[in-house]
Amino acid sequence: MAAVFIQNELEALKKASLYRRLRSVAGEQGPILNVDGHDVLNFSSNNYLGLANHPALRAAAKDAIDRYGCGSGASRLISGNMTLHEELENKIAQFKKTEAALVFNSGFQANTGILSTLSGEGDVIFSDALNHASIIDGCRLSRSKIVVYDHCDLDQLERNLRDSPDGSRKLIVTESLFSMDGDEAPLVDIVNLAEKYGAMLMVDEAHATGVTEPNGAGLVAKFGLGERVLVQMGTLGKALGSFGAYVAGSTALRELLINRCRSFIFTTSLPPAVMAMGIAAIDLVNKEPERRQALRSNCEQLRAGLKALGFRLGKSQSQILPLTVGDATLCMKMSDTLLKKGVFAQGIRPPTVPAGTSRLRITLMATHTHEQIDQALKAFKELKEENDALLR
Ligand SMILES: Cc1ncc(COP(=O)(O)O)c(C=O)c1O
Repeated sequence: MAAVFIQNELEALKKASLYRRLRSVAGEQGPILNVDGHDVLNFSSNNYLGLANHPALRAAAKDAIDRYGCGSGASRLISGNMTLHEELENKIAQFKKTEAALVFNSGFQANTGILSTLSGEGDVIFSDALNHASIIDGCRLSRSKIVVYDHCDLDQLERNLRDSPDGSRKLIVTESLFSMDGDEAPLVDIVNLAEKYGAMLMVDEAHATGVTEPNGAGLVAKFGLGERVLVQMGTLGKALGSFGAYVAGSTALRELLINRCRSFIFTTSLPPAVMAMGIAAIDLVNKEPERRQALRSNCEQLRAGLKALGFRLGKSQSQILPLTVGDATLCMKMSDTLLKKGVFAQGIRPPTVPAGTSRLRITLMATHTHEQIDQALKAFKELKEENDALLR
């Protein structure tokens, strides 16, 4: 019976063109990636600053293993709270200019845990329609009432806030830089609404951390909103090239999470090598602004090239450039065609994005060369010529 269910589910996924399979990557995570045995140009990584294989991170990891060994052995509240965890948290708090920070084992765990700690039955969470799955699951896990507002539609958000019952605790949650569209949330206006209606605000900086000007600390910092945002969450596994996630905010928030957040409490803490890589990565972000500049210059080149070819890039303002195809089958076909031309741009389908908006999600790295971007543009030109009617 169970086996029949599994087979039926797989068949249904295949029929809807939503079946996924793992690609095998050999070697390092760089602008050139060995995918399923072939070297291709990698435009599908969140390793935006190219730190995942940086010598400083490798050296930090090796040194941490030599000094502290491999595993942490237990959760933070048992015997797994190592000095490196606190060193990394102090580094993050300084970087984000907050009172405190707390490290999580992944962004997924951070979002599910934070939301279900801060909001519960009888409370209301207001969530942007394009928020990441981990935010959606955190909202569900909290058992709060979930009010989803249309993407960045602040009139709707305000109506929803106004209509929510007096006395219920309210929390607004949004990404700062949206992972699949590359556009920015109107953070200043969201902060103003949160204050006007007495709502807590949580901002997910997973894709902004490390890459935004002036210092890579994310969009909350860019707009000087640190004092007014209760929870800033971000990840260490994307631009920072390591693994794990953080929450930055007040000391009281940190204490509450240590005491109540189940995805923090009931899990083995991150190993020393991962902590050391996180510390080394933040040092590099602080010391090497040229990485952000290189990323920006690469974005400008690719964006201009794609526009010249007639592609529309939606509202993207960043290193994430979505080429909307619409249909899931066609999108995956295009992704495969590009791969055969030597360019890896992953097709993204529901439920990662809303139905009818399947897309090629192109992401840039600071370490792409201008020649590699030109090479990719040639492949996109051919793709456009072969599918002109479809990408209009
Ligand atoms: C916006 C956003 N939040 C959270 C996460 C989860 O982070 P992690 O990969 O560290 O679990 C992701 C990952 O893709 C994300 O895009």
